[in-house]
Amino acid sequence: MTPEQIKLVQESLSKVAPISDEAAMLFYDRLFEIAPQLKALFPADMTEQRRKLMSTLVIVVSGLSDLPSILPAASALATRHVAYGAKAEHYPVVGQALLWTLEKGLGKDWTADVAAAWLAAYTTLSSFMINQAYGRPQAAE
Ligand code: HEM
Repeated sequence: MTPEQIKLVQESLSKVAPISDEAAMLFYDRLFEIAPQLKALFPADMTEQRRKLMSTLVIVVSGLSDLPSILPAASALATRHVAYGAKAEHYPVVGQALLWTLEKGLGKDWTADVAAAWLAAYTTLSSFMINQAYGRPQAAE
């Protein structure tokens, strides 16, 4: 990610922060719409889950300018997700729901540059988490 992309991601997340609970609601509704099979993995009461997701996003996004500072926490998060039943192939669908939510939340501020910056951020984080949790996928598999 370029420093400019990191700035775009940080600025756009701060615009969504005032509506973070609505954004999280939108995110899970969208996720369960495009991947209904994932609903069973989550607790019935999603109140706490929404809060944790948004606070983690804020921490990760603020750490983008100093990646080594967030990698240990991202690695532990990835390992916990194995126990939650998350699989490597679920990460792209979660990313799709996240970007869709940001697009809805940001409206006219969702520009092509902001979209590209978020895609780069999610790809960086999710590739690292997948690699930590499941190892590097083999071409032959
Ligand atoms: C970069 C991507 C992701 C981030 C930042 C993220 C973040 C979080 C956070 C902060 C929690 C709260 C619990 C904890 O801290 O351990 C959580 C729980 C959970 N996540 Fe994720 N997550 C991501 C990807 C995924 C994916 C791909 C799945 C696949 C289905 C998933 C499924 C779950 C489930 C099922 C729980 C709740 C488990 C429970 O409380 O019983 N997450 N996630």
